[in-house]
Amino acid sequence: MYSKKVLDHFQNPRNQGKIENPDGVGQVGNPVCGDIMKVYIKVKDNKISDIKFETLGCGAAIATSSMITELARGKTLEEAVKISRQDIANELGGLPAVKMHCSNLAADALKKAIEDSRRRR
Ligand code: FES
Repeated sequence: MYSKKVLDHFQNPRNQGKIENPDGVGQVGNPVCGDIMKVYIKVKDNKISDIKFETLGCGAAIATSSMITELARGKTLEEAVKISRQDIANELGGLPAVKMHCSNLAADALKKAIEDSRRRR
């Protein structure tokens, strides 16, 4: 089932919430399960200086959102855009196969937030 790390991030999500006046926002929804994820970023010197998320979804969606905020913080936009769903799952100690699509949401929401910040510049 779920790894200890998934349970930990589900029960104590890191960086949950909203950033006022973000430099970029990305929102994605999964049409199958109906879950929604929103990622807010602040960018300073081409790096992600702050990142937060709001997720309405399953436990795996919350854990992957939490993990991606930890992975992306401090990275350059070029590095952060390359974080894949596999990277997120690996960092969490694996996800059950039926839950891999949940980590897609996190990776896609971050990519959209980065695109948005590039558009706004
Ligand atoms: S079941 Fe919808 S994101 Fe996990």
